[in-house]
Amino acid sequence: MAELKLKVMEALQEEAYKGIVRIDSQTMRRLGIRPGEIIEIEGERKTVGIVERAYPTDIGQSLIRMDGIIRRNARTGIGETVKVRKADVKEAKSITIAPAQRGMMIHAAPHVFRRGLLGRAVIKGDILALGGTRSRRRIMSDSPFQDIFDIFEQSFSGTFGFSDLRFIVVETSPKTPVIITENTRIEVKSHAVEVKDEHIPEVSYEDIGGLDEEIKKVREMVELPLKHPEIFERLGIQPPKGILMYGPPGTGKTLLAKAVASESEANFILVKGPELLNKFVGETEKGVRKIFEKARQAAPTIICFDEIDALASARGRGFDSGVTERVVNTLLAEMDGLEDLGDIIVIATTNRPDLIDSALLRPGRFDRIIATTVPDKESRSKIFEIHTKNMALAKDVDLKKIVEKTKNYSGADIAGVCREAGLLALRENIKSKEIKMKHFETALEKIKPSITDAALKRYKDIEEQYLKIGRGVALKKPNYMG
Ligand SMILES: Nc1ncnc2c1ncn2[C@@H]1O[C@H](COP(=O)(O)OP(=O)(O)O)[C@@H](O)[C@H]1O
Ligand SMILES: [Mg+2]
Repeated sequence: MAELKLKVMEALQEEAYKGIVRIDSQTMRRLGIRPGEIIEIEGERKTVGIVERAYPTDIGQSLIRMDGIIRRNARTGIGETVKVRKADVKEAKSITIAPAQRGMMIHAAPHVFRRGLLGRAVIKGDILALGGTRSRRRIMSDSPFQDIFDIFEQSFSGTFGFSDLRFIVVETSPKTPVIITENTRIEVKSHAVEVKDEHIPEVSYEDIGGLDEEIKKVREMVELPLKHPEIFERLGIQPPKGILMYGPPGTGKTLLAKAVASESEANFILVKGPELLNKFVGETEKGVRKIFEKARQAAPTIICFDEIDALASARGRGFDSGVTERVVNTLLAEMDGLEDLGDIIVIATTNRPDLIDSALLRPGRFDRIIATTVPDKESRSKIFEIHTKNMALAKDVDLKKIVEKTKNYSGADIAGVCREAGLLALRENIKSKEIKMKHFETALEKIKPSITDAALKRYKDIEEQYLKIGRGVALKKPNYMG
């Protein structure tokens, strides 16, 4: 059977989590498959995906586009190579899925999930997100399972919930790769199964809009040393130990840290600065040491100190300066003690770069600094696409107009507007099937940008300072255009 090697690229945001991959028509011919059919994708693990035609810009290239969940299922990453071949899929007699996130419980009849599962191709052990049913009708139209098409109406329930959930395919019958049809018996376990040593991407790059350059820089700094430490050794250069991400609240810093951790397949320890202070009252330093100890045991590891300003505000300034000082010292000692292997990388995020102790920014510590900012028009448009991906939008919804009206809105503000519009539609009529333009208009009146021009100017000044002292990582596009 024909087999080809293809380079993995990310999926388009609005297409994520539908279980599809895109490849060139010529490649399809060489593999002997047609759009709507299913291929096996082999990285370090095998999975399956529904094939769609490549976008015009990808034609003639040996690429395969897939979202973060398929990348995880195939155990591969952007820029790596996978083997693909036509899959031998059977219709599933039965399938059992379970929540894949610890502590998550499901109280819903299996039929609730049917809509999101229909037409999906899976292998036992795959992770699934059940969002994004929008274009599957088209995808399936060439497939041998003609009779299930009319089920693929937009799922309104998707708007309010399931798309963020992750499920694992616990069992399939037969045990081969299967496609889920109307005839498939679906069983949903209410309790999460413990997924051992498994990496479940909570956030993928496709969930982030308009931070392409920031993602690229962080990937270079994090993924490369974690995945290929030998390159650094060979060249005799030191991989970064610490990266500071700062910018106004809601601009995707935490999101980006989570996505990088997911995609790099490293272990991830997320430490929320404020929580650390509370959890280990009086023992914060011990807490910090424990975190590094755990990271060393599990390496490669990414530690993210989220909202680090809570932990490390400028020494001597806070009311509890004694504690803060000791915590900062512990953190610095731990970072200085890290070997130059690149197998532990510390990411810190903050909305308050002005409060960060300059000792943290010295070489060998958080010496790469990346700024995020409020999205420009193009980025806002992408973020709206991401957050409305699973919403049933009425025909009159004009996202372009909405984008025009949202200057200075952060990513979080945009997510809020979309959520509010959905809730307004529901409040108006609990049986409502779609969200209309008027709901967005009302939502825009209610949710105003959380960042002012004056605040943006302050961030811009800080960015210039960092760049001047050679610490800031310059991005191609200028930040803070207002
Ligand atoms: N660039 C973005 N693309 C898509 N969603 C975003 C973006 N930035 C923020 N969001 C939304 O806002 C929420 C909060 O963002 P977060 O990363 O926590 O902000 P920060 O850490 O910068 O304060 C995210 O969970 C996401 O829903
Ligand atoms: Mg955050």
